[in-house]
Amino acid sequence: EERRPLVLVSNRGPVTFGDDGGFKRGTGGLVTALTGLASHREVVWIASALTDGDARKARESDGTSFRIEADDGDFQVRLVESDPEAYDRFYNIFANPMLWFIQHYLWDLSNAPDVRRNEIEAFEFGYNVVNEDLAKAVVEEIEGIDEPVVMVHDYHLYTLPALVRRARPDAFLHHFVHIPWTQPDAWRVLPRGVRREIYEGLLANDIIGFHTRSYRWNFLQCCRDLLDNVEVDFEAGIVRFEDREVWVRAYPLPIDAKAIRRTAQSARVDELERELLRRRREHLVLRVDRADLSKNVLRGFTAFDLFLEQHPEFSERVTFVAQLMPSRTDVPEYAEYLERIEAIVAVVNHRHGTPDWMPIQLKLKDDLEEAVAAYKNYDVLLVNAMFDGMNLVAKEGPMVNERHGVSILSENTGAHEELGEFALSVNPFDIQELADSIHAALTMGPGERARRAEGLQAIITSRDPGDWIDEQIADIRKKAGVEA
Ligand code: G6P
Repeated sequence: EERRPLVLVSNRGPVTFGDDGGFKRGTGGLVTALTGLASHREVVWIASALTDGDARKARESDGTSFRIEADDGDFQVRLVESDPEAYDRFYNIFANPMLWFIQHYLWDLSNAPDVRRNEIEAFEFGYNVVNEDLAKAVVEEIEGIDEPVVMVHDYHLYTLPALVRRARPDAFLHHFVHIPWTQPDAWRVLPRGVRREIYEGLLANDIIGFHTRSYRWNFLQCCRDLLDNVEVDFEAGIVRFEDREVWVRAYPLPIDAKAIRRTAQSARVDELERELLRRRREHLVLRVDRADLSKNVLRGFTAFDLFLEQHPEFSERVTFVAQLMPSRTDVPEYAEYLERIEAIVAVVNHRHGTPDWMPIQLKLKDDLEEAVAAYKNYDVLLVNAMFDGMNLVAKEGPMVNERHGVSILSENTGAHEELGEFALSVNPFDIQELADSIHAALTMGPGERARRAEGLQAIITSRDPGDWIDEQIADIRKKAGVEA
């Protein structure tokens, strides 16, 4: 088997450096997915410098890659610093919220026109600048390598592939999109020129991967409806554009069961668990999310409020632990969302709480071990995202849970395509259905709980991230062979 180094490129890298030069693991679905890969293969991971510590590191390493040794393996990393103003426009205006919202059906069409102009400038002078900076690093990194393979990740880098393609027509470009792909109309808010640049950027890839068949289908439809001069073969999943073929595939992302089990057995998790058990009520409802609007946190609390109102017999018997990681807080919509979360928690706790019972326990923090301690002990895991590319919590929780806990799972998550049958499937906008599901989960008999929990585990363990990468590498080889 050939072992040419793979070049990965994404906005967020595997680690971020602090002011003291120490580093912290990156968070979110993308980093979780790729870290295992990067430590098992020879990979050079190119990413944006996100913090001052990162920028210092980028300058120290003089724009070349360097090795870092982390608990779960070594990585070769190259950090790319962009102009801070350009980066701010790229990250805080165009990628988030605009693209993120478009791709989760959250873009508010009533936004004022001057706001819209702001976003177009952010595309030109922010998004494209960062894409150019990272593309340049990729081109340097693959210099001297024949037919290099570059794996591009996510919605931050849609225009990068065309830039790399121009410099290196022989490169094999594989792009994985970690978030949903919405239907054509959702994309119509973008000016045609911006839209065209985004789609043409993407169609410079050889393969584009998504988590689910339905995102793949939406992407094919978008190509047909939003572009001229394309030919789309829906059955084969092929887009023909400018004399090239682009394969569009679905590769649902699995979790690394071994890694999460290892964490579950660590001393710190053990300690956190003891703390949790000391305070636990009869039932524990859990959610773990980035504090992102797409996760539908507010409706989750409203549903819990309704459940307590309709089932007063559960008073003092159940705690809802919500561990939410503040995210993208320089984006006004996100900062405001955090405030609304805190406000609704206060209201529900005030309405239903008693002197020795606080119904909702809100933890605003990024602490994987604390999440895992809670995963092991929940009775109900609530994943009610409005829309979500995959949602790894829906896989991590059932993997380590020890109580045959029940999953409540939004039908609009990627994970639902695989796990829906063994979860309580919900429409995330239907608050009464959510409240009913919480009740159904808490009153479910032990036989049914076991059947569902075992079903979830069997599916979750059937593939691992190594398989996910191998499926993609196999397609890369197949397509490269076809064209050779
Ligand atoms: C999602 C996206 C990733 C992103 C992560 C965390 O999982 O698909 O690309 O890295 O969220 O978001 P952040 O903005 O903190 O990188």
